[in-house]
Amino acid sequence: MQKETIFIASDHAGYALKQCICDHLSTQGRKVEDLGTHSEESCDYPVFAHKLCAKVLENDRQGILICGTGTGMSMAANRHPGIRAALCTHEFQAKFARAHNNANVLCLAGRISSPTLACAISDLFLEQEFEDGRHSRRVELIEIQKVD
Ligand code: RB5
Repeated sequence: MQKETIFIASDHAGYALKQCICDHLSTQGRKVEDLGTHSEESCDYPVFAHKLCAKVLENDRQGILICGTGTGMSMAANRHPGIRAALCTHEFQAKFARAHNNANVLCLAGRISSPTLACAISDLFLEQEFEDGRHSRRVELIEIQKVD
């Protein structure tokens, strides 16, 4: 079991699911650093997305972001060069977000995915290795290239 710290954050709409994921990962013996939010009081998802992305980049770790749909979190996270955030509502997406896209941030939808499904998605995301090979070139091409 990987013991590296996993960063996690949510807005109010993802708060309940964040608590479930934190409990689930902690039970597995994983180290989880919860960057908030810490209640269901209304808050702004980009604040938490930016906070988590800074930690992921600084520490070269993986992160999990949760809002109501996962959409706002993924939009904000993907503004950071070096962050590859994948919104996953199905286990298949989580597996290939890692295997083919080398995603370093998983975005979950607190108002769509059940805790059971979200935990299964998180497990696949954290366990799956990047396949490298031809996928490395494609992942490098994701970063915006200067166009002459
Ligand atoms: C909050 O109501 C909701 O807009 C937010 O959680 C998220 O779904 C945005 O993308």
